[in-house]
Amino acid sequence: MADLDGLKDGKDFGIGIPVKEKPFFLKGSNHLDWGMQSRLSRLFNPKSGRTVMLAFDHGYFQGPTTGLERIDLTIAPLMPYADVLMCTRGALRQTVDPTLGKPIALRASAGQSILTELSNEFISVEIEEAIRLNASCLAAQIYIGAKYEHNSIKNVSKLINEGMRYGIPTLAVTGVGGDMVRDARYFGLATRIAAEIGSHYVKTYYVEEGFEQVVNGCPIPLVIAGGKKIPELDALTMAFKGIDQGAAGVDMGRNIFQSESPLAMIQAVNAVVHELMTPEKAYQMFQDLKSDLTRA
Ligand code: R5P
Repeated sequence: MADLDGLKDGKDFGIGIPVKEKPFFLKGSNHLDWGMQSRLSRLFNPKSGRTVMLAFDHGYFQGPTTGLERIDLTIAPLMPYADVLMCTRGALRQTVDPTLGKPIALRASAGQSILTELSNEFISVEIEEAIRLNASCLAAQIYIGAKYEHNSIKNVSKLINEGMRYGIPTLAVTGVGGDMVRDARYFGLATRIAAEIGSHYVKTYYVEEGFEQVVNGCPIPLVIAGGKKIPELDALTMAFKGIDQGAAGVDMGRNIFQSESPLAMIQAVNAVVHELMTPEKAYQMFQDLKSDLTRA
């Protein structure tokens, strides 16, 4: 039986001190449930409000592309430097050390390859599996303007509906249909649709003209993909411009793991994203780290 002797009545109720109601740090996320906000706080650094997602999910339709032939050898050493790991459940179980404690953006769609129509995806991961894997978010492509646009919106909606039941956010990944022009108008349309259907954040691409309009027309956080491999200074410049114009981080793959020095590159990207380090300084940091690593 509970010991009821000596119970003391509470005295200090802080009368006159209002309860502090702190707004949540990510845009469009203030009214989400505690579990959602907790997972989003793992995906985005609450201090900077931003994230460096290391994307290595490409194999789900590209197979063993350059830099991902042996994820255990090439990507595993980079993982400690990322805020989030974006991967398939296969790569997760095969190559990610669970003791690392990194939040996982789980690729939850599949259904096509580089040999077929890219927009023809389905949801390949059950919500119970995502929970079993302790995923911090679920990700699938939204292919606006592509052949299977309708189905891709259904896919992302399914993730949102299932994720909402368990407090797991959904990342909508804008996949560009073959005939679409990659401009602010297109990404403005795609990211806004992603937000309106209830996604919690969205991955898009940086565009030189009108990126701020894309950011401001999208009421949820937006992260930019790296895209095809470009010279390191150009990739750091793109990341800087994206962040400076309001992106909440990067979801970067090839421009890190196909870099001359992936370990140096991920640290330089980190400095741009979280400290808004200028591209020139970040490139110098990349060069310095690269030569240190070569000497070691
Ligand atoms: C596409 O395969 C995935 O969504 C990638 O995770 C995304 O495109 C980011 O990778 P990258 O920076 O190589 O474009």
